[in-house]
Amino acid sequence: MCGIVGYIGNRQAAPILLDGLSKLEYRGYDSAGIAVHSVDKINMVKSKGRLKVLEELTHNGSTLNGTVGIGHTRWATHGSPSDQNAHPHFNKNNSIVIVHNGIIENYLKLKKKLEKKGYEFISETDTEVIVHLLDYYYSGNPLQAVTKIMHRMEGSYALGIIFSDHPNELYAVRKDSPLIVGKTEGGNVVASDVPAVLKYTRNVYFVENEEIVRMTRDEMEFFTVDEEPIEKTSVEIEWDINAAEKGGYEHFMLKEMYEQPKAITDTFSPRLKGQDIVIEELNMSDQDIKSIEKIMIVACGSAYHAGVTSKYVFEGLAKIPVEVDLASEFRYRNPLLREGTLVIVISQSGETADTLAALREAKELGSRVLGIVNVVGSSIAREADNVMYTWAGPEIAVATTKAYSAQLIALYLLAMKFACVRGELTDHELAAMVEDLKALPAQVEMLLNNKNKIQRFANRYLAAKDVFFIGRGIDYAISLEGSLKLKEISYIHSEAYAAGELKHGTISLIEEGTLVASVLTQKQLYKKMISNMVEVRTRGAFVLAVTNEGNVEVERAADYVIYIPETNKYFANSLAIIPLQLFGYYIAIGRGCDVDKPRNLAKSVTVE
Ligand code: M6R
Repeated sequence: MCGIVGYIGNRQAAPILLDGLSKLEYRGYDSAGIAVHSVDKINMVKSKGRLKVLEELTHNGSTLNGTVGIGHTRWATHGSPSDQNAHPHFNKNNSIVIVHNGIIENYLKLKKKLEKKGYEFISETDTEVIVHLLDYYYSGNPLQAVTKIMHRMEGSYALGIIFSDHPNELYAVRKDSPLIVGKTEGGNVVASDVPAVLKYTRNVYFVENEEIVRMTRDEMEFFTVDEEPIEKTSVEIEWDINAAEKGGYEHFMLKEMYEQPKAITDTFSPRLKGQDIVIEELNMSDQDIKSIEKIMIVACGSAYHAGVTSKYVFEGLAKIPVEVDLASEFRYRNPLLREGTLVIVISQSGETADTLAALREAKELGSRVLGIVNVVGSSIAREADNVMYTWAGPEIAVATTKAYSAQLIALYLLAMKFACVRGELTDHELAAMVEDLKALPAQVEMLLNNKNKIQRFANRYLAAKDVFFIGRGIDYAISLEGSLKLKEISYIHSEAYAAGELKHGTISLIEEGTLVASVLTQKQLYKKMISNMVEVRTRGAFVLAVTNEGNVEVERAADYVIYIPETNKYFANSLAIIPLQLFGYYIAIGRGCDVDKPRNLAKSVTVE
């Protein structure tokens, strides 16, 4: 997490740095700072709190003069959010300054050694060891000092570095934390992510692991850790710059919820050729698909929930056994990946540290890895054997909505494709599914337009302490995501349970008025679900049901019912999640929460 930016050029650096940081705040927002080289010294301003505090402190950057600078927006790992722990960090005589995204895992060991050599630490961060280490190795050649510290540091880092005695140079280096650089008119920029530089350039270079960049106003050079020069080619970014703006909506989250019909369409339409599903980027022959014996899905958070949903779809449609694992668990459990296992990693950002590590682990164990990724050119997209993009566009709100919806579509398409090739789906069945798929965008839109009803209901539960989400099968997977949406932005404790599991302990938590959101989209499970709803209602719960149109029987067991339109049973998640997203959103709004930037969170989790 954390976002870093840097600029060297003919323009004033500070406003460019602040603007870049504003596009990276999704990566962390507990403190921010900038450092600008001015005449013969480096000036720095940093502060606890959101970027707007820094903007006020620097009068939008006008108090810092200079055309070379670096900036940082922080998500605290080592040391609480404070002025002291905020980046940038100086060496002892303020002649070297750095910003860092990542974690130095051996920082305690390095710190002890540096302390023995007389270095004093003023922050609690792991980052401060980097700048003192640089100071220790620096003897006038910045590139040499950078390569030396790279040999000493373990962990992950993307760094921006300025040496005051090299005022016409800006250095950047990366290992396991994202970093891009771009050439602009009259200068060069570096950042953790593309949106920060999009205003200035569409041609970026993705810095690879252990690569170093030396930038001057006019030039950009790349080096290996052995100081060997590297030739790199730039990539053109095609994003619509306005896609990362609020466009009249009160919050990014609401805007992104409303972009779901488009995200769904954009993800399926390029892959539908008549009634056929063509996923060219899969690069798998029919024989390859037929020889899949097992699918292993690995992801975190909502992407994991999309994976849980797809287990039912792959198994039900394509008859391929599926295991779904959290990336943070998978990477340390010595997974058994046999020949014939296809590993699918799912990630919106393409930078989630655990998912990236799981991908590498799976590749090392000899598996083919397919990435389902939203951010074009991200680390997971580049490292996976094959990548299937979700075309949701930039997602800014920390709570994912449109990227999750697009992930579901990509997974449905894959399952349908596999089912056809393996002879599990007839042309006729496929045609019916494709029609249902095409109907989803309009159905999602219709559900979104029902937002006032959900808002009225949400307003009744602003003071809720605990909320339970229950469902069976795919409905359990929907419950997992509904529960996460609510808790991450409203701070109300909520849990998702497989409905049949409630009475094995959790039902003791149900008391008068506890809200239980029940999801019933799977006809074969209606009756079982209704029994579970009656069980909690008898114990005082207030039961909200999300179910298919026509299932009026549910009204006997629920206090409030939200109906979703009829669709193929495997696509139900795409519809049922909409009222649950709206519910989480309106509860959070009603409680005065910052929905786009919930406390303690960041959009891109680049540390494990
Ligand atoms: O970028 P990724 O899809 O890999 O991120 C995974 C999770 O961090 C993410 O889905 C997280 O759970 C969201 N905050 C959920 O809204």
